[in-house]
Amino acid sequence: MSSPLVSRMQGFADSIFSEMTQRALQYEAVNLGQGFPDQDTPASLKQIAQDQIAGGANQYAPGIGKPVLRQAIAEHQRRFYGLTVDPDTEVLVTVGATEALTASVLALVEPGDEVITFEPFFDIYASAIALAGGVQRTVPMLFPDFALDFDGLEAQINSRTRAIMLNNPHNPTGRVFSKEELDQLAAIASAHDLIVISDEVYEHLVLTVTLTRRSPRCQGWRSGP
Ligand SMILES: Cc1ncc(COP(=O)(O)O)c(C=O)c1O
Repeated sequence: MSSPLVSRMQGFADSIFSEMTQRALQYEAVNLGQGFPDQDTPASLKQIAQDQIAGGANQYAPGIGKPVLRQAIAEHQRRFYGLTVDPDTEVLVTVGATEALTASVLALVEPGDEVITFEPFFDIYASAIALAGGVQRTVPMLFPDFALDFDGLEAQINSRTRAIMLNNPHNPTGRVFSKEELDQLAAIASAHDLIVISDEVYEHLVLTVTLTRRSPRCQGWRSGP
């Protein structure tokens, strides 16, 4: 039977994660495709969740998220980035980043609009853009240290370009973009009146590694930002 999906979603039946997990199970292979935590959730955290549920926090939450959580998020933005955001009008809580990113693209991209992603990109960006009827343009990150290619970016921008999707720290390379790179990106986006949709799910997971020995295959590669 042919797929019942609308034509723009035909290529997106299965995510790469479910496919690789299925294959790992099938071949009894180590599954490096999906980032499962190695440890169980701390007992104290599980207890807090259980106590909250038992204590009555088990009903519908407000659509934009509980005030106490939105206030905590606004405080986080102030503490780490010096940003002042209004918890009532500028913070929206979603169930994970996939929902936030997809909802943002659906809300901001008209059919036919172009969205630029840096390649390699997290695979849900492509499906979110397709769902919105947008057109994805990609700009490969530069070898060997995965720098942003600003000439390549400028070359992809045209009158249909609506947004740039940025992922920092970057999955899968681990690259953390420098302030200069982010400033340059912001300047280009402002000059062309583009929206930057910034996926920062790994904002607090920054690992600084110093490579002392390199395998011949990694010669010429550098670690860190
Ligand atoms: C770069 C990036 N963005 C978004 C997500 C999805 O996040 P969530 O599981 O919160 O939907 C992931 C998960 O691996 C990711 O690596």
